Amino acid sequence: MEYRFLSIEDYAKVVELWKNAGLKFKPNGRDSEKSITEQMIKQPNMFLGAFDGKKLVGIALLTDDGRKGWINRLAVDPAYRRKGIAKELIKKAEELFRSRGIYLFAVLIEEWNIPSQTLFQDMGYKKHSDIYYFSKRDFDEY
Ligand SMILES: CC(C)(COP(=O)(O)OP(=O)(O)OC[C@H]1O[C@@H](n2cnc3c(N)ncnc32)[C@H](O)[C@@H]1OP(=O)(O)O)[C@@H](O)C(=O)NCCC(=O)NCCS
Repeated sequence: MEYRFLSIEDYAKVVELWKNAGLKFKPNGRDSEKSITEQMIKQPNMFLGAFDGKKLVGIALLTDDGRKGWINRLAVDPAYRRKGIAKELIKKAEELFRSRGIYLFAVLIEEWNIPSQTLFQDMGYKKHSDIYYFSKRDFDEY
């Protein structure tokens, strides 16, 4: 398995992987090619991919808000699950954040998503059942 940062040339593979993995995404909003290009320019080397040859089989979009390192849109191709790819992506994400002086890592996980909750708890993440996620968006697609 090869782990490398993605470029916008990988966009079609990213969309295919999110679809295969059953992940919700916003192709007309913040996950459009234009928006992903802008995000890659603002924060280069934050889109991490796992490749089997030329096939993108795992992905994590990382964001650094200056205080916390966020792991977003983590997904692994169903045919490649339970092989430790997500764990490796998380380890690499943490290393990257540390190299940027960020030592607090975070992820938002939906209540039903037990596989993802188990994964992050296994990786040492603490669950905060006393915190609710509030959000406000200007457009549905964002
Ligand atoms: C969650 C997901 C990324 C895990 O990817 P993965 O590469 O299979 O995970 P790993 O092989 O690194 O698993 C590591 C650990 O996570 C936990 N885990 C992973 N899948 C699990 C499952 N289906 N049920 C229970 N625990 C699970 C286990 O503790 C596992 O360790 P083990 O295999 O030694 O038991 C993958 O299932 C996926 O893409 N799901 C759909 C998208 C998604 O929900 N993303 C997360 C958004 S927050």
